[in-house]
Amino acid sequence: MSKKTFLSRRRFVKTAGVFCASLAGAGALSACASEAAVEPAPEPETQVDPEPASSPETEPEPEATPEPEAAPETDSEPTTAGESVLVAYFSYPETTASSDPNNLTEEEENSAVVVDGQIKGNNEFMADIIARETGADTFRILTTRSYPTDHEGLIAQAQDEINAGDRPDLAEPIPDLSQYDTVFIGYPIWWAELPPIMHSFLEQADLAGKQIYLFNSHGGSGNAGTKEEIQGILSDATVSDDNFVVSRDSVANCEQDLVDWVHGLGF
Ligand SMILES: Cc1cc2nc3c(=O)[nH]c(=O)nc-3n(C[C@H](O)[C@H](O)[C@H](O)COP(=O)(O)O)c2cc1C
Repeated sequence: MSKKTFLSRRRFVKTAGVFCASLAGAGALSACASEAAVEPAPEPETQVDPEPASSPETEPEPEATPEPEAAPETDSEPTTAGESVLVAYFSYPETTASSDPNNLTEEEENSAVVVDGQIKGNNEFMADIIARETGADTFRILTTRSYPTDHEGLIAQAQDEINAGDRPDLAEPIPDLSQYDTVFIGYPIWWAELPPIMHSFLEQADLAGKQIYLFNSHGGSGNAGTKEEIQGILSDATVSDDNFVVSRDSVANCEQDLVDWVHGLGF
């Protein structure tokens, strides 16, 4: 075990807990209409006729030469308007069907956010916000593999999978990616690595030529070199250096930062 991994493990392995028993039905491809406010086009300025001159002189005014029409303003801001966007993400909150949103355990709170009484995994929470802001479709990456429902069991199995270089099966087919220009990819850090199911997705997805933005949450490892790893796997795609990386302790309060980040990318 590398020192980095050991330190990370000590940080996030705190108490025994429970994991999500099943994510079945948790969604494959779904369209999300953007709720971002769209600025209405500015009204054309109304030409107000000047008051008639009060001068008694009756000399007719010379006909005004019409002003040449102003050239339309060129928007020099970078914009991705019109881009077709997908948000693909893996999220494995340590909750079960019987978790009480009003009374989460420490392990559950570490990996989940409660929104309007609904429990969401950290990356699920962020994916939903990104999709809302960009009008993206979402694809939740699920595996057919079942994981232990206790925290220690889950991290042990995850470590075994990582050490073995496992590539778990995807539970849902990857959507047709040819329809997307930009793909946001989200994931938790597992053992200072990409979760194995992320390798399955990245190796099977045809993301050549796409603009990729990454987002992830972690328990202290930061992005743990996963940007470089993903760029290595997706050598034909452009993986931005501008990614959204957040500690699990801050996920519940990251919405404004996340929205600012997405808007800063031009959406
Ligand atoms: C199996 C497993 C391994 C983890 N390993 C790490 C790690 O090495 N470093 C780290 O910072 N966080 C680690 N974490 C914490 C998760 O990255 C963090 O809780 C994340 O926010 C979970 O996101 P999710 O709810 O979207 O799955 C691990 C969590 C699990 C379940």
